[in-house]
Amino acid sequence: MNVNFLLMGILLLSCTSPKPIKGAVVSAREEASAIGVEIMKQGGTAFDALIATDLALTVCYPNAGNISGGGFLVYRTAEGKVGSLDYREKAPMGASADMYLDEQGNVMPGKSTLGGLAVGVPGTVAGLAAIHKKFGTLPWEDLVQPAIDLARKGYFVTKKQQRSFESKKEDFIAVNGPDTFYAQDFKAGDRVQNTALAETLERIAKYGKAGFYQGPVAEDLVNRVMETGGVITLEDLLAYEPVWRDPINFQYKDLNIYAMGPPSSGGICLAQIMKMIEPYNVGQYDHNSKEAMQVIVEAERRSYADRSLYLGDPDFVNVPKDSLLDVTYLNKRMNSFTFEKATKSTDIAPGSIQWEESEETTHYSIVDPLGNAVAVTTTLNGSYGSKVFVENGGYFLNNEMDDFSSKPGVPNMFGLIGGKANAIAPQKRMLSAMTPTIVERKGKLAMVVGTPGGSTIITSVLQTILNVYEFDMDVQSAVSAARFHHQWLPDVVVFEPGQFNPSLIKSLQDKGYNIKEEYSRIIGRVDAIQISESGEITTGADPRGDDTAVPLY
Ligand code: DON
Repeated sequence: MNVNFLLMGILLLSCTSPKPIKGAVVSAREEASAIGVEIMKQGGTAFDALIATDLALTVCYPNAGNISGGGFLVYRTAEGKVGSLDYREKAPMGASADMYLDEQGNVMPGKSTLGGLAVGVPGTVAGLAAIHKKFGTLPWEDLVQPAIDLARKGYFVTKKQQRSFESKKEDFIAVNGPDTFYAQDFKAGDRVQNTALAETLERIAKYGKAGFYQGPVAEDLVNRVMETGGVITLEDLLAYEPVWRDPINFQYKDLNIYAMGPPSSGGICLAQIMKMIEPYNVGQYDHNSKEAMQVIVEAERRSYADRSLYLGDPDFVNVPKDSLLDVTYLNKRMNSFTFEKATKSTDIAPGSIQWEESEETTHYSIVDPLGNAVAVTTTLNGSYGSKVFVENGGYFLNNEMDDFSSKPGVPNMFGLIGGKANAIAPQKRMLSAMTPTIVERKGKLAMVVGTPGGSTIITSVLQTILNVYEFDMDVQSAVSAARFHHQWLPDVVVFEPGQFNPSLIKSLQDKGYNIKEEYSRIIGRVDAIQISESGEITTGADPRGDDTAVPLY
């Protein structure tokens, strides 16, 4: 071939084919994703970008982004080393098993969700500092600075955010009084400048972990908790330490999956469900078809039943991980399933409970040009946590204590029930469902995924992975696709509103599945990155929220 033609061909190709993506941040807000990418442009890794993205979310996504909650990191380095960090909140030293019960032994409504008593000892800043110590390549202050700038210059309110502020305004005022910062009626397009938070972040930039857990920031936090009926002390803050733990690792067909282990139930439940599903080869059925949904729902039912009994903080209770993940055990669990008829949750274990609306958490996924990958899910638990706002510090406090089982058999705000394994004890971590997950295929990084959604987190991560690897979707379609959920109790399949064909719903009802349309709601906000076998990076940002993928070219 004539050399000129060849050169022209190459030139044309490079003009028409899209620029390859070298890395990406997918998070709940464009500003936060862009800040993470900017850090990578400055030569930072995914771990550096994580710190900057996380703190930016604290500023512009105050319902879930936080310095005063907790979270989990699952990572895979460019060299293929995998690990996880647990920076989940802990019960304060002054907590006790019956702290939310009245004299008759009944759970006092609202005590574990609203106000100071709902607050767990925060883990986020300690977690970020530990990540920086182990993996950081850029100076800590440079990673905190973008969030300081965002807090000073202000972030813009989105339409969804305006609705979120409006829906919680009464609670903000009930807990903090009418002059509280976030009762200001911010409208879409308004710029929110949070100087108090900028000052808090400045102390964190200067003193690292100590900038939050000691000194004036710690004192303000403790005072605010005390004023609102809580029991956290300076001693609690000083004692907080995150823990590096081994993630749960399992194989599903040709996938090698790593997800967060206890004190999250995410990894164990995801592994149980996928191992129960594996023999049924769900990819042979259509996506969201009756048969595929039956298999998935039945596996979910059985796993969530186990969750309620066996899972809790591994530093306090013996979690029978190996038995729960034993393939013979899991196959036996599915023996009672037939395509003819729904299993009843009462036949798996007794009980009947109310379903509550899910609130907010946030997940982000990052891949850098070197091939490091991080999956982080972080939360205040409910939207804006306990609604307790530290006015001097510019941030909300979590209500993570509600993730404990206040009383055996009594559901928490996600309708999840638990027993002794997840009972409250001083300095214990409450059980979580957060499921930051990393998937490998043929020894290479293949996917980074996670989501908020309380009890629906595990089943949303599950469906996203299945959508890609069983139903052949690209990652954005996999994230956007309609989702459903079952969690053993209540014995109800929840469908996203208006997304499922009435004839499909009817055919499941005919099999005995309990489908209550009034429970219909958005399920999860998944942020994922897929890496093809040839190394091509594609992203999936959930259209259910303001989630945005920012690529690094
Ligand atoms: O750790 C957990 O499982 C819960 N605190 C997560 C809460 C959550 O996802 C709320 N979001 N929608």
